[in-house]
Amino acid sequence: MKSFTGVRGMGRGEIERLVTEACEYRDALDSGDLIDRSLEGRCVANLFFEPSTRTRLSFDLATQRLGGHVLTFFPETSSSLKGESLHDTVLTVAAIGADVLVVRHKEEGVPEKVGEWTGLPVINAGDGTNEHPTQALLDLVTLKRRFGSLPGLRVGIVGDIAHSRVAGSLIHAMGPLGIELVLVGPGEWLPSETSVALSHDLDATIPHLDVVYLLRVQTERGGVIDDDYVARFRMDAKRASELSEDSVIMHPGPINRGVELTDEVADSPRSLITEQVRNGVPTRMAVLRRLAADRR
Ligand code: NCD
Repeated sequence: MKSFTGVRGMGRGEIERLVTEACEYRDALDSGDLIDRSLEGRCVANLFFEPSTRTRLSFDLATQRLGGHVLTFFPETSSSLKGESLHDTVLTVAAIGADVLVVRHKEEGVPEKVGEWTGLPVINAGDGTNEHPTQALLDLVTLKRRFGSLPGLRVGIVGDIAHSRVAGSLIHAMGPLGIELVLVGPGEWLPSETSVALSHDLDATIPHLDVVYLLRVQTERGGVIDDDYVARFRMDAKRASELSEDSVIMHPGPINRGVELTDEVADSPRSLITEQVRNGVPTRMAVLRRLAADRR
């Protein structure tokens, strides 16, 4: 694997291998006996041109857990403000000594461009509405750890599908793994051309789901929150009571309490939201190790 810019086009075997390796890292982190210096002497640069908490911090820690160095670039205090172009910025970071670039940007396709410009391996940490592949992987890790096996699981992704790069990656990851997927949301936020099942009716869908995966309304990409949306798609205690006993709630974060879900649901034992965050570090370790191994 040279770069990791998307799940689209990845084979089932490759996805499963990364999920397995991430689960192994998670076990090693939990038991405290991780000895892996795969990134010794290597430098991973985080280039986040959009806000991030979980993704950036977990790439930081994943790199450090593997013995690597972290370079963090903050656009709001960088020479971007003096007019330096994206192209010149990334070449600068490469010249300073980065070996791997982790890129988040509001425009689709920027991670690939950065890879072409620098010749370095690039990990896509979210490009516009396109993909967020490490998020999809960590979600699969979370499901695998909870349910043991992925094929046949019934997942409903709920909300602002149109603007969500998380949905973009999950759709491509879940199909090859035999997960049954339904996209649930208002008509204008559902894709018009897709082979995936669609629904406008969350209440009718809920009893058939093992996983309700809620998405944040992407107001920065044109999504609008109104009362109708909240009434139809917010996961509250009443809706949660219609789920089967083992069903779970997921959300990539950041959550907007009261919009996608209520406090009761966010903080209930069904909620895997904190587990998703925890699995971010081992998942990013698995991806980083793969890139480092393939560069030797
Ligand atoms: C997501 C993102 O930035 O795409 N967050 C994340 O990385 N966990 C989802 C979002 O912002 O809604």
